[in-house]
Amino acid sequence: MSTSQDRPYDIVLLGATGFTGRLTAAYLAEHAPSGLRWALAGRNRRRLEEVRRDLADLDPDGAKGLAELPLLHADSTDADSLAALAACTRVLVTTVGPYVEHGAPLVAACAAAGTDYLDLTGEPEFVDRMYLAHHEEAVASGARLVHCCGFDSIPHDLGAYFTVQQLPEGEPVTMRGVVRAGAGFSGGTFHSALAAFSRGRQMAAAMKQRRAAEPRPSGRSVRARGGRPHRDPVTGYWLLPLPTIDAFVVARSAAALERYGPRFTYSHYAGTKTLRYAAGGAAGMAALLGAAQVPVLRRAILSRVPAGEGPSPSRRSTSWFTVDFVAEAGGRQVRTRVSGGDPGYDETAKMLAESALCLAMDDNPPTSGQVTTAVAMGDHLLSRLQAAGLRFEVLTER
Ligand SMILES: NC(=O)c1ccc[n+]([C@@H]2O[C@H](COP(=O)([O-])OP(=O)(O)OC[C@H]3O[C@@H](n4cnc5c(N)ncnc54)[C@H](OP(=O)(O)O)[C@@H]3O)[C@@H](O)[C@H]2O)c1
Repeated sequence: MSTSQDRPYDIVLLGATGFTGRLTAAYLAEHAPSGLRWALAGRNRRRLEEVRRDLADLDPDGAKGLAELPLLHADSTDADSLAALAACTRVLVTTVGPYVEHGAPLVAACAAAGTDYLDLTGEPEFVDRMYLAHHEEAVASGARLVHCCGFDSIPHDLGAYFTVQQLPEGEPVTMRGVVRAGAGFSGGTFHSALAAFSRGRQMAAAMKQRRAAEPRPSGRSVRARGGRPHRDPVTGYWLLPLPTIDAFVVARSAAALERYGPRFTYSHYAGTKTLRYAAGGAAGMAALLGAAQVPVLRRAILSRVPAGEGPSPSRRSTSWFTVDFVAEAGGRQVRTRVSGGDPGYDETAKMLAESALCLAMDDNPPTSGQVTTAVAMGDHLLSRLQAAGLRFEVLTER
């Protein structure tokens, strides 16, 4: 194996022709430092050339060389093409989802080649299966496998990381995270969410196997709790338990980092201002979950939301999110907030691209195997995202 420093590229983006991939490519085109060696990859040369032409329009005097950006062939059904891709770059970023359908061969290729890997999955089954299949090999090869580098789960993971730093050290911590957002979905996100909803049994089985295989932190305890619907006295919002991957990611960071204290308990919620919205949200989610179990209904819903499309620039410009954290430790309580613009796409592209730049360029703690964003990049990624306009604030402390 070559050392990853010898490779032709620092960053390769696979899936650059998709909705989120294009936004990520545009972010990199605008923010990559000069000298960064990067390339676009995909299965369709004509569509890659189209993306490159759009990028070149951002660079009219040609100073960034975007018109000559290398284009690489890779198809997630062709293991040889993925092995060649993983061997030619230090960091491989993929937006090719649903990950449970398309993702595993690329994780395998990166773990084998010692290549750092980043994705946008929010699919718990995929992350657990990749832990079971590739964590040990990645530890041995030195690859950092970092899933969930978009809205799932960076604001939650780094928000909890930021919040813990406001608390006294060495004390048990109880924390809740409350998500609010106004935004639209892309076809790719919708397809991935419905695929995950339809695989409840497989998801539970992968989780159980992982729990049996993964070592627990010694001398400390970490719990991600379901929570119950209630009105939050601190934020004033109505809270509904939110069974997304975010709570697991926060708990994995807490298990890996001593700073989260000897006993860390986290619960994760969606927040609404009124009970009526809370009830409507719960009913909508239950209906979608139910429909996902019936193949004919699932296909009918998916045909209305085509892959490759997503919210328009004007819709995205009015989209927003906040994640509030309320945490208690050692008799102190803090309320913090992470906030930004369009969560699913503009901010997700920023988070994914900054994660790639962070892994490629910053002096991060030495880690390998499947690691969270807080563990792999912690302070460096936090600083990058703050500089890029995501807000991490302390709202109240007492
Ligand atoms: N967690 C988050 O916060 C978050 C936010 C946004 C998106 N996502 C996830 O990101 C993923 C992408 O979403 P999206 O809306 O960008 O999807 P999309 O527009 O449908 O894009 C999918 C991309 O995958 C490529 N692709 C599909 N099959 C392939 C194959 N066999 N080999 C190589 N490339 C292949 C497509 O290439 P072609 O152009 O050749 O078809 C396209 O570039 C989804 O899983 C979504 O859930 C997550």
